[in-house]
Amino acid sequence: MNQDNIESILEETRIFSPPQSDTSFSSLDHWQITSDAFTTDFEGTWGKLAQQHLTWQKTFTQVLDETNPPFYRWFSDGQINLSENCLDRHVKYGLGDRTAIIWQGEAGDVRHISYTELLANVCKAANTLKSLGVKTGDRVVLYMPMIPETAMAMLACARIGATHSVVFGGFSAQSLRDRIEDAGASVVITADGGYRRGVVHALKLSVDDALSQGCKSVNHLLVVKHGGNDVAWQEGRDVDWHEALAAQSDICPAEILDSEHPLFILYTSGSTGKPKGIVHSTAGYLLWAHLTMQYSFDFKPESDVFWCTADVGWITGHSYSVYGPLSNGGTSLMYEGVPTYPDAGRIWKICQEHQVTVFYTAPTAIRALIKAGDDYPNAYDLSKLRVLGTVGEPINPEAWMWYHKTIGQERCPIVDTWWQTETGGHMIAPMPFATPTKPGSATLPLPGVFAEVVDADGEVVKEGGGLLVLTKPWPSMLRGIWGDKSRFIETYWQKFANKGYYFAGDGARKDEDGYIWIMGRVDDVLNVSGHRLGTMEIESALVSHPAVAEAAVVGCPDDIKGEGIFAFVTLKTTETNDLVQVLRAHVSQEIGAIAKPDVIRFTHDLPKTRSGKIMRRLLRDIAAGKAITSDISTLENQSVIAILQGQ
Ligand code: PRX
Repeated sequence: MNQDNIESILEETRIFSPPQSDTSFSSLDHWQITSDAFTTDFEGTWGKLAQQHLTWQKTFTQVLDETNPPFYRWFSDGQINLSENCLDRHVKYGLGDRTAIIWQGEAGDVRHISYTELLANVCKAANTLKSLGVKTGDRVVLYMPMIPETAMAMLACARIGATHSVVFGGFSAQSLRDRIEDAGASVVITADGGYRRGVVHALKLSVDDALSQGCKSVNHLLVVKHGGNDVAWQEGRDVDWHEALAAQSDICPAEILDSEHPLFILYTSGSTGKPKGIVHSTAGYLLWAHLTMQYSFDFKPESDVFWCTADVGWITGHSYSVYGPLSNGGTSLMYEGVPTYPDAGRIWKICQEHQVTVFYTAPTAIRALIKAGDDYPNAYDLSKLRVLGTVGEPINPEAWMWYHKTIGQERCPIVDTWWQTETGGHMIAPMPFATPTKPGSATLPLPGVFAEVVDADGEVVKEGGGLLVLTKPWPSMLRGIWGDKSRFIETYWQKFANKGYYFAGDGARKDEDGYIWIMGRVDDVLNVSGHRLGTMEIESALVSHPAVAEAAVVGCPDDIKGEGIFAFVTLKTTETNDLVQVLRAHVSQEIGAIAKPDVIRFTHDLPKTRSGKIMRRLLRDIAAGKAITSDISTLENQSVIAILQGQ
């Protein structure tokens, strides 16, 4: 994490009492009682919640199967369909006319989609997928803009038991190809284009590109005509979404699925190798997406308008744009476009126009909006807002205070939610009307979550710094890495194998009140604007360019993005004037624009220990422009330091 942020977080002492509310969790006593219920009867409490909140096709008799850790199974003899829980049950109980999705287009167009309408479209999409040969257990990749059809496609997959894998539309054709091949998808769903800053981005072009380089498993491409741009069309393979849906029935019985049926695969970066496909199951994931809407956001489906600004290409979009709000029968707002387009007031304009009550975004967006100035939010009526959330990266106290004062007008609790792609839903977060908050702290584990800060031996740290672990399984935990059991064990379970703890990869500090302060990743994973990127992935992209011999990538402080990307590169060829631009474009093509290094510094050598390991701490100090604190006595070639420092 950015050193200034760490320092401001370490100095933070302010405490804010939760606002008064008549909600079900209205004091820390309620948090304690609910948390205690899990301590006293872990399985019984989870079982009761799963019965109360979800609609089952066949009820379960066993809550947790721990016979083969870390391959935990939840509610495993039960049967359930997620799309039935997100749609049919609401329509059946008379909520068919309620708005499920409010969609705001960047160009100004708005759609309100009711539960009845959404169910009908999901059934048509499910029948379309079936007509294209998709069966239960097949994989379908989505490469889509933020439009209602994306949610429809996800729910249609869930309805027939096809495992979806959404790939963020900002990833390159190359990254898309890797993911399609790893998942072995038989169908890809995309759009002709999506809007960003008034420009239509040609999504289908990237899919065509990816498919032309491999992806032999793909039989069909289902294309939503949305951007109005011309696209190449391969007869027999490409299918028009609207035409296909129009020909299908709006009735499609929900497939009977086991609780553990793989609902989705979502690729995320780790410290080694290519991105890994995190696998989530159906029942456990759904239960926690459903419950955390209530715990962390105090979500009231009958009256709230919930807006999560994350793209559905990330876990936040899965759990809190689509599944969490819809499972509760509430209204979710989806915005296609850039939050600062045409100006930095766009977000607040949308909040005013659609009367958003619960708003959820990333600290990076908050910092960018602070920079744009208070005139933007002050020009809009934000009085309907009642809860404000943040996610994805540590929030610096200054940004927290601005969010609290300028946006929340000191009325709205700030909910800083710590979680990961792997956890499926929130793990550490305040309950907005129960937990006193401290700027920069995600506060306390949610009821049912057993999180601790431990030392290198796995011993619990009562107060102070250490590593963040989860000491008990939880229903929405990842079930594995697609196709790679040993990587799953090595990445998450090996470090504290003697204790059976899940290792999150984050450093954290526990204060005198038991509050947890997340200090950032302790592995070679960067957090750039709340997006996770592996340093090794970027290094591999750089060395795949013919001019590059070796590359070392580290994070560097960035006031807006939290962390920037700093690459040290040795060359095979001589340096040319445009090489920095060429290499940035190359990384963009290999991974996506989000992975473009902010700084590329050429050097004739990288600092290595005598055993040949790159001295990353030294590089991090240099990238941060700091005095060198690491021990350089083992550095082979000490003269390289001045070059690395750009002198
Ligand atoms: O380092 C933590 C950071 O984001 C990582 C997870 O990234 P990803 O799987 O992409 O999911 C992001 C959205 C859930 C974590 O290991 N992180 C997430 N939330 C917070 C955070 N760091 C500090 N505070 C948070 N609230």
